[in-house]
Amino acid sequence: MFHFCVVILLLYTARAEIFFEEVFNDDSWENNWVYSEHKGIEFGRFNLSHGEFWSDPESDKGIKTWQEARFYALSRKFKPFSNENKPFVLQFTVKHEQSIDCGGGYIKVFDCSLNQTDMHGDSPYLIMFGPDICGPGTKKVHVIINYKGKNHAIKKDIRCKDDIYTHLYTLIIRPDQTYEVLIDNEKVEYGQLEDDWDFLPPKKIKDPSKSKPEDWDDRPTISDPNDTKPENWDKPEHIPDPDASKPEDWEDEMDGEWEAPVIDNPEYKGVWKQKQIDNPNYKGPWEYPEIDNPEYMADPKLYAKEEICAVGFDLWQVKNGTIFDNILLTDDPEYAHENGHQIWKLRIEGEKKMKKEQDDLEKSKKETIANTDTEKVENDGDEEDDVQDNVLSDIEEHDEL
Ligand SMILES: *[C@@H]1O[C@H](CO)[C@@H](O)[C@H](O)[C@H]1NC(C)=O
Ligand SMILES: *[C@@H]1O[C@H](CO)[C@@H](O)[C@H](O)[C@H]1NC(C)=O
Ligand SMILES: *[C@@H]1O[C@H](CO)[C@@H](O)[C@H](O)[C@H]1NC(C)=O
Ligand SMILES: *[C@@H]1O[C@H](CO)[C@@H](O)[C@H](O)[C@H]1NC(C)=O
Repeated sequence: MFHFCVVILLLYTARAEIFFEEVFNDDSWENNWVYSEHKGIEFGRFNLSHGEFWSDPESDKGIKTWQEARFYALSRKFKPFSNENKPFVLQFTVKHEQSIDCGGGYIKVFDCSLNQTDMHGDSPYLIMFGPDICGPGTKKVHVIINYKGKNHAIKKDIRCKDDIYTHLYTLIIRPDQTYEVLIDNEKVEYGQLEDDWDFLPPKKIKDPSKSKPEDWDDRPTISDPNDTKPENWDKPEHIPDPDASKPEDWEDEMDGEWEAPVIDNPEYKGVWKQKQIDNPNYKGPWEYPEIDNPEYMADPKLYAKEEICAVGFDLWQVKNGTIFDNILLTDDPEYAHENGHQIWKLRIEGEKKMKKEQDDLEKSKKETIANTDTEKVENDGDEEDDVQDNVLSDIEEHDEL
């Protein structure tokens, strides 16, 4: 099986051009990646780690955010390339093993103008892609693409994974101006670049030279002109109470002239209105004729980036512990698929197995303590068990696989 996979990979490699690949298996990354020293921010550090649970302790190593409540800004340059006339694939893995509450998990792609030591949130980028989580409200995959100097976010909502295991994120942009987003090698969104981002002005606009004709009747109903007010309709709304009578001890001189208190008139019928009938002249709502927008110009190179030169992580994280790994930039979606499958599938299975073992061990330790101690402590132990159970069910809930 192993051999078979390697052969397949080699076959793909023969066709695929790999522009950049980073697997973070040893300390050499420290020589190639550059931390930002942008003024005024003390950036967090990454550290090589396979995390708390893993499948293979060597190949599962990635760079892990190591400090709490920090901005991170780290990048690496490579030989520049253009994606003109070929597919572009951006792929990487993310593991939020800290049960992330608020923090970015995305990667940015830059051209060569990136000043790595000065990289910060406003450094211009070409593409920003990957998960972003903040509270229960924000759990999405960003796909932001810069077009002619302006960042455009995808108009579709793509939900990201929010569990504690490794996930594979893939963006494919093709020269036929289509795109795909995959999570764990499954297509979660796809379409036309032009449709799903506002890169270009709209194709059609309302004809500004046209306006609604004066005699265009767009009232669905009208008052019936033949409906006339009944003769005895008008009655006062209030009348003096006919049952009231002047009190015996009322003295006009002292109390003023007596007036009966006013009551609602039972014969009052309200304001008369003509009844509504269908308008015989109704023509329907006026619709502006649309014309081709003179500002619109199709761009067959919407997908193309002349110079792709660097990748970087520019993030904010509250709880540290996210592990990034397996960054791949290639022109071959099939190679990326196969490569991603081999990395990710085994890894998540191993992670889940080890995490379960760890949790089971933890649970049985707690049970042992609870069973051997005095009753008072036993109660405490049970409480802790409850907490542990909650944590477990929390994890299971988040586990969408
Ligand atoms: C990670 O960073 C911490 C603190 O900087 C350091 O003590 C530790 O040795 C590092 N671990 C690895 C694997 O580099
Ligand atoms: C980073 O996260 C780990 C848990 O993954 C935690 O033990 C550690 O204290 C954190 N480091 C800092 C500096 O907060
Ligand atoms: C990069 O930014 C740093 C810090 O602002 C600055 O000192 C340096 O001159 C910049 N380098 C280039 C090539 O612009
Ligand atoms: C009002 O009544 C006249 C005469 O009966 C009739 O010709 C006309 O169509 C009616 N108008 C409406 C709006 O129904």
